[in-house]
Amino acid sequence: MFISNYFNTTIWSEQKPEFVKSLNKASNKYIKDARTREKKFIKEHGDFGRSYHSTPLTADNDFLDFRNYIGQKSWEYLDHQGFDMQQYTTMFSEMWVQEFAKKGGGHHSAHIHWNQHVSGFYFLKCSDKTSYPIFHEPRTGARATKLKMKPNQKGVWGGSELIHFKPTPGTLIIFPGFLEHEFSVDFGIEPFRFIHWNIQAVPKEMAKDV
Ligand SMILES: [Fe+2]
Repeated sequence: MFISNYFNTTIWSEQKPEFVKSLNKASNKYIKDARTREKKFIKEHGDFGRSYHSTPLTADNDFLDFRNYIGQKSWEYLDHQGFDMQQYTTMFSEMWVQEFAKKGGGHHSAHIHWNQHVSGFYFLKCSDKTSYPIFHEPRTGARATKLKMKPNQKGVWGGSELIHFKPTPGTLIIFPGFLEHEFSVDFGIEPFRFIHWNIQAVPKEMAKDV
């Protein structure tokens, strides 16, 4: 019997600890600036529940080696899935760093980034006591007709509707732009910081005019 798994959701992950030290250092000023922009709010209402987002990192040369690495990986990620990448150029739509509140409560509700082909995370500060990403089943039909799973399906919750991904500093995750994701509520026990990016594959004919 042939067993075929069509319509898979491909997620790539790997450990790339060599970027952690330099990117944490390069990110510090962005996080500090993001907190400064929110200074008035923090003073009046406290820091609970917030996440502090940087301005774009795509033009900062301190992130160049990393950007080249993840840009290449994202291209390979699409190529590996059989997409005809000779016809497309991959372009960063956005790349930014964020850190959750010191007092806890930082989180992101489930979302997708519209009109993107590849999304990714790179974790700079995290532990088993911090927030973590959760991916959602993207097939609405499958979501509506789930059955109970066998016990001990590691990382799978809610009848495989949710995948809990537990990163460590240096974990790189690349996933399809259509994949809904969220971040669990952080308790503010230890710092939680990561880089997030989105990439579009643009037809080369169109990219020539950009
Ligand atoms: Fe996101």
